[in-house]
Amino acid sequence: MPDIQIMPSILAADFGRLAEGCLRAEEAGADQIHVDVMDGVFVPNISFGPEAVKASAAVVSIPQNVHLMITQPQNYIQTFVDAGADTIQIHVESKCDIQEVLAEIRGLGKRPAITINPETPVESLFPCLDNRWVDEVLIMSVHPGFGGQKYIAAVEEKIAVIRRRADWVDIAIDGGIDGETVGPAAAAGANLFVAGSYLYKQADMAAAITNLRETAQDNFCRAL
Ligand code: DX5
Ligand code: ZN
Repeated sequence: MPDIQIMPSILAADFGRLAEGCLRAEEAGADQIHVDVMDGVFVPNISFGPEAVKASAAVVSIPQNVHLMITQPQNYIQTFVDAGADTIQIHVESKCDIQEVLAEIRGLGKRPAITINPETPVESLFPCLDNRWVDEVLIMSVHPGFGGQKYIAAVEEKIAVIRRRADWVDIAIDGGIDGETVGPAAAAGANLFVAGSYLYKQADMAAAITNLRETAQDNFCRAL
């Protein structure tokens, strides 16, 4: 079984106490911190940039999983690496040379990842998989831009297609993950789970992370 990991999204943390929000996730047993970077152009919201990654990396020792929802990721890779990013996810829909940017991330010693919006065909990811340009694929199960949206179950078919094609790749799912949706996503083949609003609204985040992890382990399936 591939490693099952839980990645709290600090988009749902209190921005006035960001460091505390990162520490809270680490102390609750999170495997990575998921940082949602939005530029107000690629998505209709503005969140935070490299300084947030730097602030998070300064207080926790778990990896920084950085999701770039920006139009020109090619201009910011070095900046996010310097800030402390460990995995960098670029969107297959972004206006850049995907292969070149993923190679740059790998060349800087970090984990390249590709992410895909709900309406984009899964075939657009095949070159990344077949040529092993990525270590991780992030499937969006909401339209990117905001936390707290409803999980789109139809993307599970995309997870299954990727899992069948590339059993070695980490498949992350992002958007609307909670105690109900984590099971079906794992059953389709996802092994990394981003969760924002569900985890940060819990009184006991550690129990919720344990619950997500155990439900994912119980349901994980290599190929549907
Ligand atoms: C949405 C972001 C997600 C978001 C998930 O654009 O990519 O990472 O924080 O939030 P929830 O878990 O609340 O759907
Ligand atoms: Zn995200």
